[in-house]
Amino acid sequence: MATFTQQNHWDLDTVIAVDHAIDPEYFANAPEQVAENFERLLSRDVFSEADAQFLYDWLLERGVSPAFRQMLDHWLEDELKHYQSLRRCYRALSGVTYAEMDQEAEARAKKRNIEPIADLLVDEFSILLMLAYDEIGSTYSYRRDLAEFYCHFGREIAKVGQHLVRDEGQHFSNAAELILTLYPERLKDVSATLAKFDVREKQLARTGSYHGTFFLDHAQEQARFPTDFNAVTMQVIQARLGIAAMPSQEKVKRLWQWKPKGCQFVPV
Ligand SMILES: [Fe+2]
Ligand SMILES: [Fe+2]
Repeated sequence: MATFTQQNHWDLDTVIAVDHAIDPEYFANAPEQVAENFERLLSRDVFSEADAQFLYDWLLERGVSPAFRQMLDHWLEDELKHYQSLRRCYRALSGVTYAEMDQEAEARAKKRNIEPIADLLVDEFSILLMLAYDEIGSTYSYRRDLAEFYCHFGREIAKVGQHLVRDEGQHFSNAAELILTLYPERLKDVSATLAKFDVREKQLARTGSYHGTFFLDHAQEQARFPTDFNAVTMQVIQARLGIAAMPSQEKVKRLWQWKPKGCQFVPV
């Protein structure tokens, strides 16, 4: 079978050791409040990465095409590597142990519920588009987090952040490529389908009751993004699919450079 997807290769243990420690000097030199906010950010992001396993299992049970399956196998490998690398960052930053993280992951697994978004995942085209939507959002938010947090705590932690940005960008590109290859006749549905995702994400943000299934899981974080974040990322997706012009450089830059008024970084 032809391969439509690409994967970045990097070795977890080479980038960050399981017992990695952050030199205290970095804590002393980091801008005020950055360590505390980074710790809060990681306490959420670690577990979002782990949700990939749930989504993978759910998709396989549902049934996927061979090309999508091939992509998903690489995708899961990357996401689980993200999980392990963020665990290492989180432990080094906060002192939270791996055993404590395992407990937290278990508690989170019990609360999983894909029901609030299941009606959006009606066919493989919609699932691929939601994956593209999710991954492009992750790409820009990790890019911002790299500049605001990951870069302050030494080479290893910064390197993890760089790999996250590259991998999520590749995941976005792979999902888009599969849509173009497998579902070209559905390009006419992209705009309306994305609009539904946007509406649902905002609804979920208001109720605050949904989490743990990977997709649309940053709903509760909308205050951390410029108000046009979804509009601009949706246009980026459509541009990648060849059905819209790319947003201006200025708009794209704002996705990861925007900060609330009076803040040096986006508080968590
Ligand atoms: Fe990831
Ligand atoms: Fe990803």
